[in-house]
Amino acid sequence: MSIDIDLDLDPDDFSTNPSGGLSFNEVVERRASRRAVLAGGMAAATGFLTTSLSGAPATAAPGNAEAARRANLIGFRRIPLGYGDEVVVPPGYTARPFVPWGTPLLGSYPEFVPGGNSAREQEQQVGAHHDGMHYFAKGRGRQGSKHGLLVINHEYVDEGYLHNGSQPAPPKETYTPGMVRKSQAAHGVSVIEVRQKKNRRWEVVRSGLNRRITANTEMAFSGAAARHRLVRTGPDPRGRGPLGTINNCSHGVTPWDTYLACEENFNGYFEVEEGSYNEEQQALLDRYGVGGDRQNWATKDDRFVVSTEEPNEPNRFGWVVEIDPFDPQSRPVKRTALGRVKHESAYVHTTKGGRVVVYTGDDQVNEHMYKFVSADSWENMRGRGKSPLDEGTLYVATFNDDGSGQWRALVHGTNGLTAKNGFADQGDVLVKTRLAASQVGATRMDRPEWVSVDQNTEMVYLTLTNNVDPTKSESAANPRKPNPFGHIIRWREASNDHASTKFEWDLFLLAGQGRDSGDGSTIREGDAFGSPDGLWSDPDGRVWIQTDGTQPRGANDQMLAANPYLRDNTGAPIIRRFLTGVISCEVTGVITTPDQRTMFVNLQHPGESKPSTWPNNDGITTPRSATVVITKDDGGVIGT
Ligand code: FEO
Ligand code: CA
Ligand code: CA
Repeated sequence: MSIDIDLDLDPDDFSTNPSGGLSFNEVVERRASRRAVLAGGMAAATGFLTTSLSGAPATAAPGNAEAARRANLIGFRRIPLGYGDEVVVPPGYTARPFVPWGTPLLGSYPEFVPGGNSAREQEQQVGAHHDGMHYFAKGRGRQGSKHGLLVINHEYVDEGYLHNGSQPAPPKETYTPGMVRKSQAAHGVSVIEVRQKKNRRWEVVRSGLNRRITANTEMAFSGAAARHRLVRTGPDPRGRGPLGTINNCSHGVTPWDTYLACEENFNGYFEVEEGSYNEEQQALLDRYGVGGDRQNWATKDDRFVVSTEEPNEPNRFGWVVEIDPFDPQSRPVKRTALGRVKHESAYVHTTKGGRVVVYTGDDQVNEHMYKFVSADSWENMRGRGKSPLDEGTLYVATFNDDGSGQWRALVHGTNGLTAKNGFADQGDVLVKTRLAASQVGATRMDRPEWVSVDQNTEMVYLTLTNNVDPTKSESAANPRKPNPFGHIIRWREASNDHASTKFEWDLFLLAGQGRDSGDGSTIREGDAFGSPDGLWSDPDGRVWIQTDGTQPRGANDQMLAANPYLRDNTGAPIIRRFLTGVISCEVTGVITTPDQRTMFVNLQHPGESKPSTWPNNDGITTPRSATVVITKDDGGVIGT
């Protein structure tokens, strides 16, 4: 199939996974084509696929009141695709930019000066490139929805806007240690105390809880890879304390009110010196795609230069970092039991028995989907002084062509994870998570991004953003090869037990230009979207979908809401476009206050490839990533 569109390619769009497992699309196709034979056509096959798992819980059908609630989940009017440099939301809603990159946050509260702040000043300001985000209520009840901590990941920087206030980026040879330090300070995480005023607008509180975590913040390791030989370096010979977190994409939230910041494309921050790396070192560099020095840090910070004498610094990234936002003195901890991949998000769900399950995708073409299950209930473990994120089992998913699936344990000594195959201990399994996943036969996926669990039905949703990699496995009947627009799958764990090792999966939707466009999409033309990335099932069950990348008809990135409980009379999912972003931004990060009356959404990298001046406030025309605060003019729940 040829699709006539301009592709918006990311580094994640190229494969470093040479293993020959069945691609997810091959599995989908086999299943679809088998059904097509049975049902007499691809349309019927797709319809069966998308409806064979009901949104209702296996244990109870919804009563009349619940059925009526689900039927009326989405109440706003759909907006059209967007092309401008303003945020658009439906009639009856208001969207305002908030806490843009450079907002004074702590210390001497330095004002933002385009291209003018020092590294020290950037350490006291909100970081760049807002991504995953959570709102932690301060206080209970109504007050908690008016006063809280907004915690925001800062994925990367645009070097031109950072250093000059405009593009292009300065030439590599002109970098100074101060420029590198400033870029590192714009990365990481912001903790921001926020409060709603009487006029419903939000403000930053000058609070002792405000905090910046950067690429140079001292951290700890825990889990089986802590102190492991593969995380030891010259400056840290015992492998105890990594420095900083980078490329923090999406996130997670624990039931004990901590924040999980995921490290995604860490690999691109390093420069790899030529040399005779041993087989293990080379395999790690290759499979994680280490190299590129994409933000020019290696020019002035030797920590980001990989050599045969100092090969392990990249192994200290690719983890999930736990942060206590309520304790500004606390040391962030890299929880190695959750594995080392390009973590997109780390969605935490609690099982009926009180164990925590962390779903985390590895965002690169042909990589895998993981989950971690704690050893015991989180309350018991914390009662014994143990972190529920340190003891448990890491699994990787296989999606079978009959709609079943298995979680395969990544435990040393099982499933071929033995010294003979290069895994001497559990620390090896964790540092080399991708290699371990290939060893156990995990399914190759089209860039697994965000996960969310519908609290009403226990259904798990996962965005697969796209896959246009030329090495993607051939498949004769694959309508989605290439897959420039992505899709969303969902699964139900056996008996709705998220600790189970078996599940049933199905397609929720195939994104694109619309089901009559010939691109294989299963959505209506009016709902056209591509590259689903951010995803959140809100407390009522609305599935919020955010996009990052190629959009139909060259439109700006966007956010839509789906009602997962209904289909139209043709079997298409019920979706409505809620927000359109500005020029050359992605839309990412979505959370509401507990009362669901304020929504926070991030716009990242406006003006990255085409000019934008958003949010264009205080006379500043340098485009800046920022949060968008959305309220309903009648004070109602967002989405109704
Ligand atoms: Fe940072 Fe996979 O998006
Ligand atoms: Ca993302
Ligand atoms: Ca993305």
